[in-house]
Amino acid sequence: MNRKKFYIETYGCQMNFSDSEIVASILTKEGYTGISDPLEADIIFLNTCSIRDNAEKRILHRLQALRSLKKKKPGLVVGLLGCMAERLREDLLEKEPVLDIIAGPDAYRDLPLLIRQVNAGEKGVNTQLSAEETYADITPVRYDSNGVSAFISIMRGCENFCAYCVVPYVRGRERSRDEHSIVKEASELFSQGYREVTLLGQNVNSYRWEKEGITVNFANLLEKVALINPLLRVRFATSHPKDLSDELLEVIARHDNICKAIHLPVQSGSNFILGMMNRGYTREMYMDRISAIRRILPGCSISTDIIAGFCDESEDDHKDTLSLMEWVGFDAAYMFRYSERPDTFAADRYKDNIPDEVKEQRLREIIDLQQKLSLKSNRRDLHKNFEVLVEGFSKRSSEQLSGRNSQNKMVVFPATGNRPGDYVTVNVERCTSATLIGQAI
Ligand code: SAH
Ligand code: SF4
Ligand code: F3S
Repeated sequence: MNRKKFYIETYGCQMNFSDSEIVASILTKEGYTGISDPLEADIIFLNTCSIRDNAEKRILHRLQALRSLKKKKPGLVVGLLGCMAERLREDLLEKEPVLDIIAGPDAYRDLPLLIRQVNAGEKGVNTQLSAEETYADITPVRYDSNGVSAFISIMRGCENFCAYCVVPYVRGRERSRDEHSIVKEASELFSQGYREVTLLGQNVNSYRWEKEGITVNFANLLEKVALINPLLRVRFATSHPKDLSDELLEVIARHDNICKAIHLPVQSGSNFILGMMNRGYTREMYMDRISAIRRILPGCSISTDIIAGFCDESEDDHKDTLSLMEWVGFDAAYMFRYSERPDTFAADRYKDNIPDEVKEQRLREIIDLQQKLSLKSNRRDLHKNFEVLVEGFSKRSSEQLSGRNSQNKMVVFPATGNRPGDYVTVNVERCTSATLIGQAI
């Protein structure tokens, strides 16, 4: 019997999606075949996220469903990958007997071995974190791609230890990937027809590659990737406000193909809360970085992440967040209610003392305000022309094409015979808070 069809389901951030492509590559090399239907698979992997409690709850729920699938299909192998596997380790094997494999983010090279162990009647576990692993030599298999845009991991781990955050514990030490392997991967993607790459790391500003006395920082790396071809768009995520340099902003300004969109998570507008969070900047320092973006990159969009209801957050702290949002006029935001994560600094030292209904109320106010700011931002774009990189048909209709402009806004327009990967200039005629709608010119 051929027992070699695998299926990967990915949760969490872009890093995890990128990691799943690495897992697919490792397994494909060993003769396994990736498929898109879990019911046909011999091996099912869930690549998991621990960032908030509800992220983990969703996965536990999914494991229940897999329990009944495994009853019908006894040989089915089920594996947990990623951050939740790293956080809960062997504990999960007892609690979730449906699981055969537990592998953390730095253990993916070991997967073929772990599968062999399971085939021999054992469980397969590896949650060892590494200070060096970057999977630099592995060419990801882009199994779920639109053929136009791709992620490239440029670093792994995080050592910022924001008080609320589980990432440093589940992703380990910060390490940068060999600059040459990144530029090579981006060049190959361009030759295959890709037109956009997003360079990924938890804190890309601290990218640093040293070899033979030469240091490549993130600004240098970004420029090297931009120089591959003017038709290759370059994006990156995520920037940390405490070290977003003018040097980097100037590199972005110099190259039309480096997208004018910066994701700069602020988390809170209150200095007291920013201090408690160990973010390493103040409201004023954040505002200074926004002013630098406005000065060096006029027309650049700015998006953010915000946490509502962190420990000890007063009504005034919350108001500071709202007023900062207004001051910046964010184009987009990801907004969350604080979720205490076991063993983080905040869980050990602070009380999660904001009642759920207050967190909910504050989050609601933040979301409502952002809705207004996003609409305002899109209205500013009415009657302007933008270069749009076509990604495919719009979700609603095959008579509409969709893609994004440099500012990372979704643009929809009547199909023109263009194909994914084409650049089309679109005049914006209408908008919602989420989309620009126009005509190709
Ligand atoms: N490295 C990135 C973000 C990684 S996690 C950065 O530093 O900005 C993505 C977002 O999840 C964070 O920006 C934060 O807003 C949110 N987040 C992280 N931990 C959280 C928690 N415990 N509760 C609620 N939101 C959280
Ligand atoms: Fe988490 Fe902070 Fe690291 Fe981002 S920078 S991953 S929020 S610890
Ligand atoms: Fe989640 Fe891990 Fe990303 S915790 S947000 S998948 S780094």
